[in-house]
Amino acid sequence: MARTVYYTATSLDGFIADADGSLDWLRAVPHAEDDDSWEEFIAGVGVLVMGATTYADAIADNELETRPEQWQEWYGDRPTWVFTHRRLPAVAGADIRFAEGDVPAAHREIVAAAGDRDVWLVGGGDLVGQYLDAGLLEEVVLSVVPAILTGGTPVLTRRLTSERLTVREVRQLGQRVRMSFTVNG
Ligand SMILES: NC(=O)c1ccc[n+]([C@@H]2O[C@H](COP(=O)([O-])OP(=O)(O)OC[C@H]3O[C@@H](n4cnc5c(N)ncnc54)[C@H](OP(=O)(O)O)[C@@H]3O)[C@@H](O)[C@H]2O)c1
Repeated sequence: MARTVYYTATSLDGFIADADGSLDWLRAVPHAEDDDSWEEFIAGVGVLVMGATTYADAIADNELETRPEQWQEWYGDRPTWVFTHRRLPAVAGADIRFAEGDVPAAHREIVAAAGDRDVWLVGGGDLVGQYLDAGLLEEVVLSVVPAILTGGTPVLTRRLTSERLTVREVRQLGQRVRMSFTVNG
């Protein structure tokens, strides 16, 4: 059964991008040589879901318009739903589907496309908040890196406290700490 999982990297103070929208503070933290958590995670993912800014940033930061094959290398042929009101370019060769408005309506189709694999909510924090509002967020996995940003894009734009979050697993992977939480009810 597919789970809906928000998996993201965050600063110690809970930001997924800094005040300039940059991820340089994240790229500066190396992955441990024996860290295969990404491969393990993506193997269980059937569908990606992201907001317009995350998608546009991924294209711009990685020059995907000129080297779209990079998308395939990362995500294979998994469908990606992008929530947006804009007309954004599709990455050549990738299965990009655009949606807008009501998250639960789109989510039925998303879950069906994921089959028995998970739905990965890539971000950002407000789109994931819409999932939380709709009772559709089941798990949060944070890869915390040693950086304090003091501002930027928050990991989640909703209040979510310990009555609804249960710690499931904590793992140190070199300079990154991976923390998994179950979202209750
Ligand atoms: N640290 C990490 O691992 C990580 C992971 C993911 C993202 N990021 C970064 O975090 C930042 C996230 O940006 P963000 O907070 O702006 O969030 P975002 O979710 O990427 O984009 C927000 C935009 O998505 C569109 N949107 C959201 N919900 C929608 C809905 N229901 N229907 C239609 N459109 C909808 C809206 O854009 P329009 O109305 O303009 O179309 C909205 O302004 C980016 O800088 C990204 O690069 C970091």
